[in-house]
Amino acid sequence: MQLPLKNAAFHTDVLPDRRDGHQPPERALGRVIACDGSRATILSAVSTGNWLAGDAWAIGRMVSINLGSSRIVALVYKLQAVNDAWSESEENPIRVEVEFLGEVLENAEGKLRFQSGISTFPPIGAIAHRIRAGDLALVHDLGDRSGVEIGHITQDASIPATVSIPDMLSRHFALVGTTGVGKSSAVSLLLRRAVAVRPRLRVLILDPHNEYASAFPDLALTIDGESLDLPFWMFKQDELADVVFRGRAPLEDEPDILREVVSAARARYRMPSSQDLARDLGSSLLKRPLDLGGSRQSVDTPQQAGPADAATPYRIKDVFTVIDELVGLHEQRWPRTALRSLKVRVGSLHADPRYRFMFGRANMYETVAPILSQVFRIPMHGRPITAFQLGGLPAEVVNAVASVLSRLAFDLASASQGACEILVLCEEAHRYVPSDISRGFAPTRQALARIAKEGRKYGAYLGIVTQRPGELDPTILSQCSTIFAMRLANERDQQIIRSAISDASASTINFLSSIGNREAIAFGEGVATTMRMRFAELKPHELPAMGARGGEVAGRYEPTLDDMVRRMGT
Ligand SMILES: Nc1ncnc2c1ncn2[C@@H]1O[C@H](COP(=O)(O)OP(=O)(O)OP(=O)(O)O)[C@@H](O)[C@H]1O
Ligand SMILES: [Mg+2]
Repeated sequence: MQLPLKNAAFHTDVLPDRRDGHQPPERALGRVIACDGSRATILSAVSTGNWLAGDAWAIGRMVSINLGSSRIVALVYKLQAVNDAWSESEENPIRVEVEFLGEVLENAEGKLRFQSGISTFPPIGAIAHRIRAGDLALVHDLGDRSGVEIGHITQDASIPATVSIPDMLSRHFALVGTTGVGKSSAVSLLLRRAVAVRPRLRVLILDPHNEYASAFPDLALTIDGESLDLPFWMFKQDELADVVFRGRAPLEDEPDILREVVSAARARYRMPSSQDLARDLGSSLLKRPLDLGGSRQSVDTPQQAGPADAATPYRIKDVFTVIDELVGLHEQRWPRTALRSLKVRVGSLHADPRYRFMFGRANMYETVAPILSQVFRIPMHGRPITAFQLGGLPAEVVNAVASVLSRLAFDLASASQGACEILVLCEEAHRYVPSDISRGFAPTRQALARIAKEGRKYGAYLGIVTQRPGELDPTILSQCSTIFAMRLANERDQQIIRSAISDASASTINFLSSIGNREAIAFGEGVATTMRMRFAELKPHELPAMGARGGEVAGRYEPTLDDMVRRMGT
């Protein structure tokens, strides 16, 4: 059979960049023999001698097709020998299937740039060859946007993989991959880069495995079950009900009784000092009232109080007193069994040492300020990250706590009017916002969805990490505009990511089941183009590690609301 090509004999005016002067000019070269709207077939040849060469055609590599005035950039997604037999002495013709990504164009001043999509299709016979290093760098260049380096691209370790932190944050991001591929490590790297370029950014990591304390000995403070105070009065009605009734179904009237009792206890708590503080905060320091307790008409904000009072505490002893009064009423409003059952339940939580974070010191606080300042690092003192160790909390309250925290993050960011930005990073996000609506906890879903949908305007951002994108609420994932997809073994998970990728490089996603540890396919707003990359290597003291000691535990500091608001930008 006559061979269509002989690599060494091929002369083109576009020689690929050479890595050193001794390198022979032979390259994997070929000719376009078929083309449709998004793909082309290239005919080339491989000899026995060059199959190991770095220049050989290989899946996942970018190649360029020379059109004279421009060069099409395409991605190899399939390779096949034309003949069934292999010749040791001759070159073996091969078919290379590629998908178009975009083109490198030269403007009037002679400056090259890459643009996605192609304006001219390659004619049959056009020459294809391995991409020049310069073109490859252009493809991954963020252009006018400033990028930070997070690793290198897989095809060429000399080309940095860069991401635009503002775009990645403000349109939310997700990192998915099967267990052990390096998700948490990659997150640590991204967070390090993010806080380095965004001085007003605070990060709250919801850390179910208590692994991030060790990753940020210099940048984070840790909050664990011991150091945490999240008073029960900061829980909204549905969040509190979840804590109180989780693990046992409530008697018929119990949730309604709880609602009434909390409402009455709130009304009994009227400390002028806290009202004054709240009013100050609402009027002079912030244009928008700090509505940190929930919606205005709810039980959390009694009608007679102003909206700023949503953050007002109530006393647990008032809760017991109100229940006792209801029990003692001559004309029964609620069944006594339900009243007593509720009292026993609240009483046992109140006495349970595992719930000390909710009940232990709750009534030592008169405002939300000390709590917010601890959780959200106000002032920051050089440590913008909070590693919130959910692993130390009773499993049944984790959802409610995640809900409270995400809600507060949104409210605080929006109340600060740009003084602080908050990123909520959810590890194992499929646990809080599962795709199955009947599972999970509605308020957590709501709080995260609110950040995902409206957070951008207010400086509240979401970072989602999961091993099982197929089990994550698709509406949350669809709000994440930058996705780092690491290896995914499961077909359904791959399918989810495939459908999330909108640009032409759908073939890239085919590699998802086989890419290496630390590798990712990054696509979306935060990157220049869909890129296959490898995250930079972290130093041992920057790696997350479960159960490792490290990270200073956050102490409490007791600011007034005014004080805290003044320090939001610090
Ligand atoms: N960027 C990196 N630099 C150095 N080592 C890394 C990096 N990424 C991963 N590793 C190594 O791989 C191990 C597993 O990584 P990591 O814990 O980040 O995986 P994971 O995907 O979060 O796993 P899991 O699903 O169990 O949470 C790390 O302990 C570390 O040894
Ligand atoms: Mg992990």
